[in-house]
Parts: sequence; structure tokens; C-alpha cells
Amino acid sequence: MTAAKAPGSIPDGAPDGAPDKAPDRIAGMFDAIAPRYDLLNHVLSAGIDRRWRDRALRSLGLTGRETLVDVCTGTADVALQARGAARVIGVDFAGAMLSVGLRKVRAADESRRVALIRGDATRLPVGDGVADAATVAFGIRNVEDPKQGCAELARVIRRGGRLAILEFGVPRVPGIRTLYSWYFKYLLPSIGRIVSGHSVAYSYLPASVGTFPPPPAFVAMLEEAGFADVRAEPLTFGIAYLYTATKR
Ligand SMILES: C[S@@+](CC[C@H](N)C(=O)[O-])C[C@H]1O[C@@H](n2cnc3c(N)ncnc32)[C@H](O)[C@@H]1O
Repeated sequence: MTAAKAPGSIPDGAPDGAPDKAPDRIAGMFDAIAPRYDLLNHVLSAGIDRRWRDRALRSLGLTGRETLVDVCTGTADVALQARGAARVIGVDFAGAMLSVGLRKVRAADESRRVALIRGDATRLPVGDGVADAATVAFGIRNVEDPKQGCAELARVIRRGGRLAILEFGVPRVPGIRTLYSWYFKYLLPSIGRIVSGHSVAYSYLPASVGTFPPPPAFVAMLEEAGFADVRAEPLTFGIAYLYTATKR
């Protein structure tokens, strides 16, 4: 029998080395780091994260008329950056992340265009075919059942609608891979620990990336969920990947 863990405690290793992604543990972890999340995001990625989100949004070809569902919206960065959408519904299960997001939405005077809803990526509180497009930025690897997460994305996007998913990857060029592995496994968790005050949240990051399906496997998962034209494009040497697809 395993001991119960408090929300916010860390999704540590399962027997096979994969981090435990039980929803209450993941939500608790993001709730705990929410106040420092944006700062750490921009510092640890040297600001590149904003460009990656921009790239993902551009791939959707938004015209100003679309409803966009941003799954795992966190502090609403993608939702707010998606100025090409008429309406954005951001969904996340971590209440503290959404509170930070809500403050940002109000400060930007975007409350009429951007709505944030608490919900799970595997049971989206959104009707069938409501979305013209959907995004998931750095969220899908945290979802306990990513297959179900992809099936939900396929359910809420209308036929012919577009999907853009950003997720971390592992650089393929050997020298860069070594350097990045060192940064990701050692330096980033230390900086994350000091700034967020959370002892293990930023160790979970490399652990979760290491156990996420590699690009060809994730592409196959999206195809199986009902998407066509699925592409995986490496960004910044493969530190991140942009997955794009069209709902069949
Ligand atoms: C790394 S953050 C990314 C936030 C935001 N998309 C961004 O680009 O900054 C991951 C977010 O996914 C959310 N999340 C993880 N699993 C989820 C699930 N199953 N359902 C809803 N939200 C989830 C977490 O609460 C967290 O806010």
C-alpha cells in the first residue's frame, strides 16, 4: 500500500521510473508553483517560449472569426496571445494557475473574448465540435492518459478544424543534446527550486519529458485519435516540437 500524498507534493517515480501523473498530484504541483510560474517560464527558456507559442498560433491560420479552445491553459499565455481568435476558452484543472490567468485576462481587458474554465483535459467541459481550433502548450505530457486527451481534442474540434500542440522534446544533434541534458537535468531544477521555493516541481519537468512518447509515436497517437495531416516540427534544435494536425 502506498502512503497518501498531500496535494502539491511531488509526482515521484512510479516503479518503472515514470513520474506519477495522478490528476490531483499534477494539479497540486502546478497550484504550488503558480505565483512564480510565468517568471520561471520566461527566464528558464530565455524568452523563447513566447516565440514558440506565436509559431503554434500562426500555424492555425486564424482569421478573427474562430472559437479556439486552449487546453492546459495554465496562466493563459496562449489564450491571451491568440489575438486572431474571436473567442478563446481556456481549460485547466489547477485553480491557482487559472487565478493568475484570470488576473492577466482582466488586466488586458480581454474578459469578453477570453473565458477560463476549470476542467480536466480528459473530460473537457466543451461541447462536440464547438472549436474551430485548439491548442495545448506544454500540457499534454502531464496528462495521465494522453490518448484520452487526444480523443477529447478530436471530439471538441469541428471537422476540418486545426490543432497545434507544443511539447518539449530531446535535441537530436549530439553536442547540443549533451549540453541541453545537463541544463535540463541539473541547472534548471536548481534554479526552479530556488525561485519557486518548490523542492521537486522542476525535477518533475525533465522526468516527464523523458517519458513522453517520442515524436513518431505521438504523431501516430494523434492520427489514431482522428486527425489527418499530422506533422511534428522540431523547434530550436528539437528542444520543443510543434505538432500540427487537421480534424478528419
Ligand atoms: C507547463 S503548464 C503549461 C501552461 C500553459 N499552457 C503555458 O504554455 O504556459 C501545464 C498546465 O497543464 C495543466 N494540466 C496538466 N494536466 C492537466 C489535465 N489533465 N487537465 C487540465 N489541465 C492539466 C496544469 O495544471 C498546468 O497549468
